Amino acid sequence: MKADEIRETFLAYFENKGHRRVPSSPVIPQDDPTLLFTNAGMNQFKLALLGKEKRDYSRATSCQKCIRASGKHNDLEEVGRTARHHTFFEMLGNFSFGDYFKKEAIEYAWEFMTEVLRLPTQRLWISVYKDDDQAYAIWNSRIGVPAERIVRLGDVQQGDEENFWSMGDTGPCGPCSEILFDQGEEMSCGPHCGIGKCNCDRYLELWNLVFVQFDRSPDGNLTPLPRPSIDTGMGLERIAAVMQKVQSNFQTDLFRPIIAEMEEIVRRGYSSGPEGMPFRVIADHVRALTFALADGALPSNEGRGYVIRRILRRACRFGRTLGMTEPFLYRLVGPVVDIMARPYPELKEKREYVALVIKTEEERFGETLDQGLELFRKAVQVVQASGQKTIPGREAFRLYDTYGFPLDLTVDMAEEIGLQVDLEGFHEEMKLQKQRAKQASRFREEENQWTILSEGPHSRFIGYDHERATVVIRRMRMATDYIDLVLDQTPFYAEAGGQVGDRGELRGEGIEIEVTDTFRSADAVVHRGKLLKGNIREAKGSLTAQIDSQRRSATARNHTATHLLQAVLRQVLGEHVRQSGSLVAPDRLRFDFTHFSPLSPKELERVEASVNAKIREDIPVSTFETSLEEARRMGALAFFGEKYGERVRLVKIGKESLELCGGTHVKATGQIGQFRLVSESGISAGIRRIEAVTLFSTPRSTG
Ligand code: GLY
Repeated sequence: MKADEIRETFLAYFENKGHRRVPSSPVIPQDDPTLLFTNAGMNQFKLALLGKEKRDYSRATSCQKCIRASGKHNDLEEVGRTARHHTFFEMLGNFSFGDYFKKEAIEYAWEFMTEVLRLPTQRLWISVYKDDDQAYAIWNSRIGVPAERIVRLGDVQQGDEENFWSMGDTGPCGPCSEILFDQGEEMSCGPHCGIGKCNCDRYLELWNLVFVQFDRSPDGNLTPLPRPSIDTGMGLERIAAVMQKVQSNFQTDLFRPIIAEMEEIVRRGYSSGPEGMPFRVIADHVRALTFALADGALPSNEGRGYVIRRILRRACRFGRTLGMTEPFLYRLVGPVVDIMARPYPELKEKREYVALVIKTEEERFGETLDQGLELFRKAVQVVQASGQKTIPGREAFRLYDTYGFPLDLTVDMAEEIGLQVDLEGFHEEMKLQKQRAKQASRFREEENQWTILSEGPHSRFIGYDHERATVVIRRMRMATDYIDLVLDQTPFYAEAGGQVGDRGELRGEGIEIEVTDTFRSADAVVHRGKLLKGNIREAKGSLTAQIDSQRRSATARNHTATHLLQAVLRQVLGEHVRQSGSLVAPDRLRFDFTHFSPLSPKELERVEASVNAKIREDIPVSTFETSLEEARRMGALAFFGEKYGERVRLVKIGKESLELCGGTHVKATGQIGQFRLVSESGISAGIRRIEAVTLFSTPRSTG
């Protein structure tokens, strides 16, 4: 039975049992900050399982794209060593939201396995949680599985979470029961082989039935749910291997074409023994990369992006062991898309984009990979010559810092030759480097000390509604060529979110200051400028602060144009376009965004025309505040580099654009005037830059 058929048979079976067929959610979770990647079918149903969300169905079935390469469920290091672990896999599942419970879940699973797929019952084993007598009785008395094929496992109190499933550190969880398939004695790892006793491939965990009974809170407490639910998960790759009578997932039709293409590229044959590991790692990793990138992730140095980078670099390194010194991974995207585009049509249009991202990253890492490997080789020589077994943390850090070797890659390489890495030493080096960076920046900040002129709250921004205000100076500091002032309140916008700081003037009795820049430093808004007249220390009473209104208006036009530009780029190029930086000045704007190839002249033309069309529509621009959670729910675009508080400000341009933004904007797009592209270029891997201007001419009277 082909994998495509198994997937369809499963979903149809549960549809027949009154389950709603729900499409897979993206591998990048949309609204769950506790997860970097979707790691189970239940993720998208989390609130329904907890009884916190009502849906118009109480039973669901899905085939979910999952990535397990970080956090609680992380199989990265097992990949390639076993026949059954993956970073990316598909999970078939059926779910009950306070509807049926253990009995039906077990009966459905058994019927599907033995009557639909017709697996031989005597090869199916069952595991239940240590004291789950209820599940045991259902399997034993109701279904008729003999006691010798039912195993009790796990003990949460003792820290053994076997047969107790949870999504992460918090959320829905409960005891579970698994159906395992005995692949036969010839797969056994020896006398100690057995369920819960070893990690070999003989007893293949096929299907996990979770009896969701608790909500785990961050302090680890388990709160019983008012209505228990069901969450099940069966790895498609594993059941495909069983149905196709092969002993490894990598021999199924989900992997064979990828491995065949690899054999072509590296001009070597694959074998399922230990020598085949690089093939398995690469085939697995390219699937994870393809799905993650297609769903909007990008390699970077943090969080999710760093997991992507680690997976990619790991694959590159294994490529080297197959003699691949040129980029090659990207050539495997084609076979992945060919196999998977039917169930996941979103892959089709991303095919070239994904290949390009991967190729660019491969080229980049390729530049330092060889030097890094050389450094590693030398470090190993030194360690071995001195009869030691541990690579110093300092060397691992150098590999990380200078050659881009993720720590786990170095650990992997060390383990392969029976060495270990001094992890503590590595983290110590990392800490030292951070301290050095911090000290350097603190030194700059403290060069000039502040003088307090008046006490009280400071830096309240009133500039959305006022361009002029009466203010009091709270503190000042002088340098030879400038003066910095912090005020009680201010109409001056401090540089943020790409928008430049306001300019203007401060005037009081006998005092005149020209403000040339405004920016934030810690929690204060600093007005930097020149003292034109008077002595600040003797300044009595209040001053009048007036911003340069024309400059502010010109900046606002460019800022609103930037939001339109982002909206249009997403329409023209695709939803993967995300702002990665910007500059909004009175005379120009610059917008950096994620995209992997230069824009064609046609695309540029469309972008410019489309922004101008939206300007002519004179769409009203409004702003409002809401919670970060609500903003996310509304699908507002946020700029990843930025930190947001609980309350956020949203800027809305009709139906065209909704962005988290603290900047100043025009009241309607018509005020922008005209939008002209100036240039388009690449600034780093996967990041393009557009520069543009807006031209505003005051309508001339014709009378
Ligand atoms: N959510 C069930 C599993 O991942 O096994």
